[in-house]
Amino acid sequence: MSILVTGGAGYIGSHTAVELLQAGYDVVIVDNLSNARADVIDRIEKITGRRPAFYHASCADPKELERIFSRHTIDAVIHFAGFKAVGESCRKPLQYYRNNLDSTLCLLEAMERFGCRRLVFSSSATVYGMNNPVPYVETMPALSSSSPYGWTKVMNERILTDYAAVHPDASVILLRYFNPIGGHASGLLGDDPNGIPNNLMPYVCRVAAGQLEKLTIFGNDYPTPDGTCLRDYLHVVDLAKGHLRALDYAGTHPGVEAINLGTGKSVSVLELVRAFQNATGVRVPYVMGPRRDGDLPEVWADCSKAKRLLGWQTELDMEEMCRSAWNFVKRHEA
Ligand code: UFG
Repeated sequence: MSILVTGGAGYIGSHTAVELLQAGYDVVIVDNLSNARADVIDRIEKITGRRPAFYHASCADPKELERIFSRHTIDAVIHFAGFKAVGESCRKPLQYYRNNLDSTLCLLEAMERFGCRRLVFSSSATVYGMNNPVPYVETMPALSSSSPYGWTKVMNERILTDYAAVHPDASVILLRYFNPIGGHASGLLGDDPNGIPNNLMPYVCRVAAGQLEKLTIFGNDYPTPDGTCLRDYLHVVDLAKGHLRALDYAGTHPGVEAINLGTGKSVSVLELVRAFQNATGVRVPYVMGPRRDGDLPEVWADCSKAKRLLGWQTELDMEEMCRSAWNFVKRHEA
């Protein structure tokens, strides 16, 4: 069975490609490498002993998609490709809407032409917007966001839902991720953003590695136990495995399902920094700074639907998340 993984050289995409190859699927990756390195494909091969087919192309390019779907019999698609920096999306909204919506539209048109009806979409907890109480449940309204990036997730969920409505044989799973961190146990794959990281764990790792001087914790006056924000951090390998469960489920259940993937537990910024120091033995200097625009005090998932429908729950703990994130950075810098 062949799975097209768009954005398969990226952080979550590459971990998912590994799990797919190890489970015996054939994998075709399309990635324009706008926020990923070409040698990720070699690393995927090193881990799995199998090389995915790779197209260095944008999945918003209909000609490239035509070429890929003509050459391979694609049974299902996992769609990760998209810009993902919240702050950047506020400065460049048109770029985000153009890229993130075009890629989904082009992909669906190609799937329609070639009769491919199974899709797993990389969505985000950001679709729950600013007004729902935690923990987030899939039945809550998920129709707004706080950034153009987040709005592209809301809009893509809408596009996919409307597509499924006119294709009764199609199955679409909208996976709403919480905060994936960590890396592959081999140390060969991890979160490797271009430039200065926006997200907490890659920032912590670069401070630990001495590449950045100190972490600024964005706000310690939130109404939380230690004053810093609470998030639901999950191991990227657990998250990757969730995609395989979703593919299986989609194979036998036409229609659309939105499913949260998280741990159902919340951890504060300070707790994460301490867990990192304990797991790695490396000190992370930090200072308290002002709140970051758009941050919510607490975000975590109700994960009962993932357990009920997919039989999925996380297995790896915070210590493993920190150790694997650091292991990747250390090996990568060597
Ligand atoms: N943080 C810091 N200092 C930093 C970076 C982050 O204190 O240098 C804090 C943030 O304020 C937040 C927490 O660490 O409280 C987590 O921040 P991240 O940027 O790692 O993650 P977010 O929860 O802000 O964002 C994540 C995803 C987005 C998604 C969002 C929606 O990265 O893609 O969740 O829930 F839209």
